[in-house]
Amino acid sequence: MKLFSKDLLGIKELTKDEIILILDTASGFKDVLKRDIKKVPALRGKTAVNLFFEPSTRTRTSFELAEKRLSLDVLNLAVTTSSVVKGESLIDTALNVQALGADFMIIRHSSSGAPHLLSKNINASVINAGDGVNEHPTQALLDAFTIKEKLGEIEGLRIAIVGDILHSRVAKSNIYLLTKFGAEVRLIGPPTLVPQESESLGVKVFHDMDSGLRDVNVVMMLRIQMERQGKGFFPSTLEYFRYWGLTAERLSVADDNAIVMHPGPMNRGIEISSEIADGPRSVILEQVTNGIAIRMAVLYLLAGARG
Ligand code: CP
Repeated sequence: MKLFSKDLLGIKELTKDEIILILDTASGFKDVLKRDIKKVPALRGKTAVNLFFEPSTRTRTSFELAEKRLSLDVLNLAVTTSSVVKGESLIDTALNVQALGADFMIIRHSSSGAPHLLSKNINASVINAGDGVNEHPTQALLDAFTIKEKLGEIEGLRIAIVGDILHSRVAKSNIYLLTKFGAEVRLIGPPTLVPQESESLGVKVFHDMDSGLRDVNVVMMLRIQMERQGKGFFPSTLEYFRYWGLTAERLSVADDNAIVMHPGPMNRGIEISSEIADGPRSVILEQVTNGIAIRMAVLYLLAGARG
């Protein structure tokens, strides 16, 4: 089986079988990454260009490592010193990168829909590395991979996603994925950041940590996205932590084997305490490690889809 599209734009567009294929392929690549020589020649001769119009630590570096592990030639476009600052349009930039021989374009952009726009205008495979408040598909895939590694099947698990749901592309991609797999998804946060209409996505909404976290198997904390917020979603970060921050006391109502996740970057002392972030239930750094295998799988399968 192969992926049905030349691009990975979102989890919404993927079938459950395609997601399973990506997770299974990543499992094979994770074994490769444990070897002394962590490189395979699978995509030798192909070229990947990383176009990051927004800051990134984890996604950009793990895409670059994934590309290098697959023997791709890699180009990182330095957006701030490129002709983008002279007013070149996104499509023109992408067409020029394609003219240089790009087979894959990995794009992060502050505008929702930017990868979809590229997908319609270029022949290279487009991978969404986070678009505005829309989706971050490879993050949800690496999260699912980590949950399966730690807890087995996703179906039937109770999974809480906590915090700034309104501005979170990570939350959206995870909601699409986890509901496709039959998990009970709970969204927890203040009413200003977790709209009640979210229930139309097949999730339960809680505005109280103690009832939302009760008996959950997974707690997925989200970053408060100050850069996407106007004023007035909550009174102060101190107050936010008091009501919505994850502490040992709050976590005590979750299942005894519950794991704690965070896509990063974390705001310690605002959405999560250091005691929990660095504690035994945290799988936050394992999520980062799994990101390389997931991104290798996506690149490899998209190459197959292109034939
Ligand atoms: N999780 C995530 O997208 O992190 P970065 O912003 O560092 O890529």
